Parts: sequence; C-alpha cells; structure tokens
Amino acid sequence: MCPPEHFAVEYAINPWMDTSAPVDAELALKQWQLLRETLVRLGHTVHTLPAQAGLPDMVYAANGAFSVDGVVYGARFRYPQRFAEAAAHRAFYCAGNWRFVEPTEVNEGEGDFAYLPGAYGGLILAGYGFRTAPAAHSEVQEALGRPTISLFLVDPRFYHLDVALAALDDGNIVYYPGAFSDASQRILRQLFPSAVLADEADALAFGLNVVSDGRNVVLNSEASALAAKLRAAGYVPVPVELSELKKGGGSVKCCIAELRP
Ligand code: ARG
Repeated sequence: MCPPEHFAVEYAINPWMDTSAPVDAELALKQWQLLRETLVRLGHTVHTLPAQAGLPDMVYAANGAFSVDGVVYGARFRYPQRFAEAAAHRAFYCAGNWRFVEPTEVNEGEGDFAYLPGAYGGLILAGYGFRTAPAAHSEVQEALGRPTISLFLVDPRFYHLDVALAALDDGNIVYYPGAFSDASQRILRQLFPSAVLADEADALAFGLNVVSDGRNVVLNSEASALAAKLRAAGYVPVPVELSELKKGGGSVKCCIAELRP
C-alpha cells in the first residue's frame, strides 16, 4: 500500500475523476489509515511504499505490478501522468526475493489482472478495453505460466477489471456482468457457474473493488446491498469508508497490491 500523502485529482483519466470537485486530503489519509489497520487487524502483513510528490494516483498501489508464486510481472501505465509509478514498484520487488519480469506491453497490474489459484489449477483473469493492452495478456501468460483468460470491458465507468470483478477465494469470483461484452459474460458463466453476481448499483458503489482473504471481504461501505449478497454466500463483509479515494476512481482493491510470494 502507498499512503495518499500527495493524493489529489489534478487530471481526469477515468470518468470518476472531476478536477473541479474538492478532495479532503486529510480525510483521504485518515480513511486510508483505517483501511490499513483493518487489514492488520484481520491478520495480514502490510508493506508500505513511500508516496512520491507529483504522483497523485500512487495511492492506487494495485496498478503497480502483478505477482504469482514469487514471479512479478511489472506494470507499464497507459497514461504519462502515472508512468513514473512503475519504477517505484519495481524497486520494491527488486529489493526483495522476487523474480521481476519487465513488461513490454501496456498493463496496469492488478487493476486488470486477477488470480484464482484454485480454479483450473491456477487461472489468471485479464481485462482489456480501456487500460491494459490485449497483447499484455499473452505476455503475462508467458511471464507467469498460467492460463490467461481475456475479458473485454465495455463500460467506461468500469475501466479496470478490478472495478468489475474480484476473486472471493481461491476458486470463486464476484462480478458485474454488464461491465463485460456478451462473449466475455458467456465465458465467465462457463468458467464460474457459482459466481456471486453483482448489479449495476453494486458496481457503482465500488462493491466489486474488494480484497478477500477467502472469508473476510473488505469492501466499500457504500456497497451495502452487495455486502448482504456476500453474507448470504457465506462470506464476512468488512465495510470501510473510502469516500475521498472514490473521487480518483478507486476503492479498497485499488489501494492494495496483493503479494503472492
Ligand atoms: N485515478 C486512477 C487511474 O485512473 C485510479 C486507479 C484505480 N486503480 C484500480 N486498481 N482500479 O488510473
């Protein structure tokens, strides 16, 4: 995670960002700290990447890389405003016990990649349409050696895979079908017949932008209807307030790069 010490909405690269709407920087930091404490309370280890001035979106740490079993596929951002973030993430992994694979294709890390270790022997779900280039899907497949399923995102409000779909445990997902093309919806139904389905209101409340440890699902407090669906499916929803970070177009998952050593 990376604290929102320099967070602001200074440019608009997704439909949620409105440069004329005020952002409460102090509140953003408080909400982020609560998210971090929630993860620690649930028993997780959180590493912190130092925030850098001039990179207001760096708080969305999920976009910096994607790791599976000790191998890291680095990010290459779509927009110049975020280019420099990739090096900060690379430095984090290179200082640790990871094998880092430098990408040649545009991809925004866990923003557009999800991993299901228990589905079909380990499956990568990959989004494209707005940010990550389709060519990055074959590159990530070669880098990480897992079958990679390409999913076409068609609604600009859900410009990253992680605002439309999330892993709930090793083998199941929750998603909003309307964010995907008809063909991709068919593929998701075929691969995940027991998925939890979200509706448009759930997606607009950033309900799909969750982090789950297989039992606890940390999600935006506005997504109360989806929280009830998750509870009915046997999960424990853990709501957190992230109203300020929503103004940049992100929520829980966007703030967290999961490490799979
Ligand atoms: N303002 C950021 C952008 O548009 C938000 C990124 C959200 N991150 C995510 N994983 N969906 O790039």
